[in-house]
Amino acid sequence: MRRYLDTLLAQNRVRVVDREVSGRFELAAVTQRSQRESDAALLFRHVAGSRYPVMTNIFGSRPRLTELLGGNKSFCRRWTEVMATPVVPPVDVAEPDGLQEIRLSDLPQITYFELDAGPYLTAGVFLANEPNSNVPNLSFHRAQIISDSELRIRLGGPHHLTLYQAQAEARGQALECAIMLGPPPELLLAAAASIPYDESELEVAGRLAARPIPMRRCRTIGLSVPAETEIVIEGRILPNVRRPEGPFGEFLGTYVPVGDNHVFEVSAVIARRDAIYHALVCGSPEDLRLIELSVATRVYQALLAANQRGIIDVACVPNVLSTVVQIEQMYDGHAKQVMLTAMGANHDYNKSVLVVDEDVDINDFNDVWWAYLTRGRADQRALIIPDVPGFYRDPHKDFWGRLGIDATVPFGRKAEFLRKRIPGADAVNLADYLTC
Ligand SMILES: Cc1cc2nc3c(=O)[nH]c(=O)nc-3n(C[C@H](O)[C@H](O)[C@H](O)COP(=O)(O)O)c2cc1C
Repeated sequence: MRRYLDTLLAQNRVRVVDREVSGRFELAAVTQRSQRESDAALLFRHVAGSRYPVMTNIFGSRPRLTELLGGNKSFCRRWTEVMATPVVPPVDVAEPDGLQEIRLSDLPQITYFELDAGPYLTAGVFLANEPNSNVPNLSFHRAQIISDSELRIRLGGPHHLTLYQAQAEARGQALECAIMLGPPPELLLAAAASIPYDESELEVAGRLAARPIPMRRCRTIGLSVPAETEIVIEGRILPNVRRPEGPFGEFLGTYVPVGDNHVFEVSAVIARRDAIYHALVCGSPEDLRLIELSVATRVYQALLAANQRGIIDVACVPNVLSTVVQIEQMYDGHAKQVMLTAMGANHDYNKSVLVVDEDVDINDFNDVWWAYLTRGRADQRALIIPDVPGFYRDPHKDFWGRLGIDATVPFGRKAEFLRKRIPGADAVNLADYLTC
């Protein structure tokens, strides 16, 4: 992560904030304001009450995520290529010099949204081993900071860590777990992605990094963590204990109310001497890009597995509940078949699926909606499937039902729908023209 941030700094791709900011709302406010106009990463050098600088929006950019995979093609295509390469197992190394034991309260205490219950860790990647097979898993889970020894964490129903914890709990055991802040970037990508239960996500991270991930032993638990990680919180998820967590401003843009959630007992916090803390504003582009990675690649792979031809790319805009698939049409009705396969690929998030042609910018919802409005009848190109359950955490069925939209040019009439363009417009550098 350190090397990655240094590279971005050297390329002037980081916005640096030197003045001191408060961790209570101000840091999140500046990040959100910056994200409205730029996808640049941010580095806050001084956060009140802590000696650790904070990086935000490191992953809030599609081009940066694609670059991290070592390609300039569509993210989904590149991801699929990398996943077809041989796995790269991690390698054990000695503990590096300069690691220090600190307290949770030494870290920047960041409160993001107005009604949040207090400071949260939002970019923590949890590492735990499957209780029977020992296969390691990586996943993100928010954590409310209660004290130096206690975090309250959110384990969503279908996630692997939730299943591991349930197995340990059934035996009356705590589940050992390490929370990593600032692991190598490829670990964050592997953590966000949806990887089969019995695959090692550390090996997936090795594939993404094209090198074995060096691992050191933890000091107080029987796990190993990537030696280069900036900050590691070691501890255990307690069995049969639930305590109130929340409210918290979440990725869908609203608050999740207080709920009885799991308790993480901290046994040590180990940081590099000059550690950088990673903070992530939930629901911001950084969060949405990471969740998109998981959903879009899963849909893309399902389309290929179903032998759908002409699949170019998949994105989630304006957010993760809406999947957009870009195709090169091969036959009449192609878009509708693609739509049905995409809907079946993910039962949590595909509340709407839109299919567009190759000349539409799938990362821009305005362009996607323009295609629907201009390329055919509204009434015959929308498909509503009632009463299909959606997002798992949905007591009132607000996420039920599916909407499919075929926003492609009617088959065989491509020439009539040619998009107008001004030669040279993309290459214009306005600074060469504007006087003031
Ligand atoms: C930034 C971020 C925060 C997340 N926060 C949570 C969370 O608090 N609770 C949760 O259950 N899942 C959360 N998720 C989703 C899971 O971490 C994610 O789906 C992951 O792929 C699950 O891993 P698994 O497939 O190995 O179970 C978050 C995802 C991201 C990208």
